[in-house]
Amino acid sequence: MAIVLTTKETEVEQFQAALSEKVTRLADAQSVHEFLEKDPRESLLIVGHLVPMGVAADISRRYRLIRPGLGILVMRDLIDVPSLSEALNSGIRELVSTDDANALLQAVKRSAQLSAEIAALDATQENVSSGKTVLVFGAKGGCGKTTIATNLALALADDGKKRVCLVDFDLEFGDVAISLSLSPEVTLSAAVKMAGGLDRKAVESLITKYKKGLDVVIAPTKPSEAEFISPEIAVDLLQHLRQMYDYVIIDAAPSFTEITLRCFEMADIYQLITTLDVPSVKNLKVAIDTLDALGYPRSKWHVVLNRSDANVGLSIKDVEDLLGVEIGTLLPSSREVPAALNSGHTMWESQRSHPFTASIEHLAGNITGKKAAVKHTTKRGWLAESKK
Ligand SMILES: Nc1ncnc2c1ncn2[C@@H]1O[C@H](COP(=O)(O)OP(=O)(O)OP(=O)(O)O)[C@@H](O)[C@H]1O
Ligand SMILES: [Mg+2]
Repeated sequence: MAIVLTTKETEVEQFQAALSEKVTRLADAQSVHEFLEKDPRESLLIVGHLVPMGVAADISRRYRLIRPGLGILVMRDLIDVPSLSEALNSGIRELVSTDDANALLQAVKRSAQLSAEIAALDATQENVSSGKTVLVFGAKGGCGKTTIATNLALALADDGKKRVCLVDFDLEFGDVAISLSLSPEVTLSAAVKMAGGLDRKAVESLITKYKKGLDVVIAPTKPSEAEFISPEIAVDLLQHLRQMYDYVIIDAAPSFTEITLRCFEMADIYQLITTLDVPSVKNLKVAIDTLDALGYPRSKWHVVLNRSDANVGLSIKDVEDLLGVEIGTLLPSSREVPAALNSGHTMWESQRSHPFTASIEHLAGNITGKKAAVKHTTKRGWLAESKK
């Protein structure tokens, strides 16, 4: 069954007659995202002739890498050079003349054939394992993203029982390498000259080993190199990594860059980090409103309140009320956290029974489905709940 994006109801009847099948009408791009999220097998979207070309192109750009099996056909009254070039650039499969029912039928057949070939290819690739991708995001710098991403990656590696790759996509100011005391020999900058040909071997050459079970892809050492890393490189890299590892953890930049948006599209779980200060909560609120508006499903959201016991006038309940979302995990504040960093150790490796580490174990348990070994006083990982 196809879906049709159109504001004009009568157009749907026209498509149904031309294709001799029932189609679902959706009135705006947001409804298209919601529909596609619910139905991962839908492989055809027809965009009606009144929908602006830019809207069709934006939808196509969003899905062309993460869902190449989705064919998008766009109806146009006039097929001119600007629309053709926008279609080509955004990955729209075909433009079809509005009043040519036969051309539409042929385009639908070609698209179905291509989607079937891509699905067959995907089925072969799915036999290779596909790991979970976890995005660690905070809308404000310094809220603890890297601390959480590094310790969470170690927790998920489970002393080498699982294979985890931590990717530093905070391209300008990445600090994963320094947090793990790694001296970068290869960074993501090396991917630039491999763009378009990022195969598994090339991806392997970008990896720095930290310890058994945990590999790292290090961010460029110079901020000026960040701009050369395109969203396509990021998507290719993540696609390979999730076939190579049980878990891929992304330490993202604290802003909605093109790469961050691709990460949101590809990740299975979002760890949304905030602290108990108004700018951090305000920024996260703006970020989650954006995620809502873009249709990123709430089922993937997991809000983490770092330094949840800091006595700064805001309570956990205040944060929940401001965000309108329940906090999933609480991480305590402790001087030991920066002290561990400054002495070149992670909390996970140096302080296993510390409450901070216990909460990281709780966070990891939410991802693996395995209960943490450490006994927690609350379902959210730490005892700060009593301070509500
Ligand atoms: N729970 C905590 N208790 C005490 N200190 C913490 C805690 N979490 C993080 N910190 C400290 O806060 C500082 C910032 O943390 P971190 O570097 O992880 O944040 P970030 O969000 O990655 O920052 P940036 O946006 O600069 O990359 C570090 O010095 C870290 O040790
Ligand atoms: Mg950081």
